[in-house]
Amino acid sequence: MPQQHSIGLLGLGGVAQGLLELWSQSADPRFRIAWATDSEGAAFATHGLDPASLLAAKRGAGLRTLRGARFEPGVPLAEVRSRAPCDILVNLLPCNYENGQPALPVLRAALEEGVHVVTAEKASLVLGFEALRRSSQAGKAHLRYSACVGGSVPFIPILEWMSQANEIRRVTGVVNASTTYVLSELEARRHTPQEILERASKLGILERDPALDLEGYDLAAKGVLIHNTIYGDPLPFKRADRRGIREFLDEPDKLRTGTRLVATVEPGKVQLDAPVLPMHSPLRVYGLENAILIDTPHAGELHVRGVGAGGRGTATNVYGDLLRVAQLLKGGERTDGRAPVRPAALHPNV
Ligand SMILES: NC(=O)c1ccc[n+]([C@@H]2O[C@H](COP(=O)([O-])OP(=O)(O)OC[C@H]3O[C@@H](n4cnc5c(N)ncnc54)[C@H](OP(=O)(O)O)[C@@H]3O)[C@@H](O)[C@H]2O)c1
Repeated sequence: MPQQHSIGLLGLGGVAQGLLELWSQSADPRFRIAWATDSEGAAFATHGLDPASLLAAKRGAGLRTLRGARFEPGVPLAEVRSRAPCDILVNLLPCNYENGQPALPVLRAALEEGVHVVTAEKASLVLGFEALRRSSQAGKAHLRYSACVGGSVPFIPILEWMSQANEIRRVTGVVNASTTYVLSELEARRHTPQEILERASKLGILERDPALDLEGYDLAAKGVLIHNTIYGDPLPFKRADRRGIREFLDEPDKLRTGTRLVATVEPGKVQLDAPVLPMHSPLRVYGLENAILIDTPHAGELHVRGVGAGGRGTATNVYGDLLRVAQLLKGGERTDGRAPVRPAALHPNV
């Protein structure tokens, strides 16, 4: 029997449900769900919540109807772990770029107490980068965030691995599938802007607050996470340049075919732009695709491209991070003062 890690699930939206689908189809004895929360409350089970039953309850009459579990309504997120401990916190709450709430203080407290964190939620990570780093150092806990960039495409693990031994001069990325979907649908001129937004929402690729995607917050945050993964000095989120694609929704006739929202990441700099990409540009992706170009002096230009958005796909990167944490713990690799957060939320040289 492999070592079992207890999981606390913060949030039960599209990504969490994707993870529960994966575990419903193929149980993984390495993980046990100690508790799960949504905006109504938390469900606890001493011997673990069954993924399929949890999924059915969430999609049906709600967590309070889950059999074999204790439901507590309105329990503050900061108090859930005191009701039932967990080894790994999985943060699948919505993004709030004003202050990183409600996730940020919960993650900090967990890391400080040695609870490992896997997150798909970016806002707390980019706004509280330094604070989370200090917390993970203090608690010697791992923090992983592969699902924050690319949904199901493992850009962050690839960049983490590459940056250990390669110099990376620049990363250029089209990694906000929502704006790529909107722009490529707008240029196809089959649907109205309103219809396109509704379809994006149904596909689960728009944030609950669509402004986060359409006004460039999501892509700017991804740029900062790419930056902080590959370069030594973390970039504060407020220093990232931001722009969106609202103008094309308001006046679709102004859109030129091949326009994409692109992030350019260089040391100390994240810049967003909406250029018209040439027909054969590797970054000219469509629909739910993401792509990055990694410019290196010794390996030339590397191109990574894949479909990466939606709950189920994103859940694969969350699961990958959970497996990595389990491996690190099995191998006895603990964080230390020098490189406490992996994959390089902190660069090894920090
Ligand atoms: N979907 C994607 O393609 C994708 C890709 C990469 C990263 N992400 C990120 O992953 C995270 C989760 O995405 P998602 O699509 O699963 O989001 P979502 O569908 O909006 O789900 C958010 C979940 O958080 C719960 N919640 C909200 N506020 C809460 C609070 N104060 N206390 C407890 N629970 C609360 C919601 O509860 P209710 O269910 O009761 O409303 C819901 O279950 C987001 O940060 C997103 O940016 C998503």
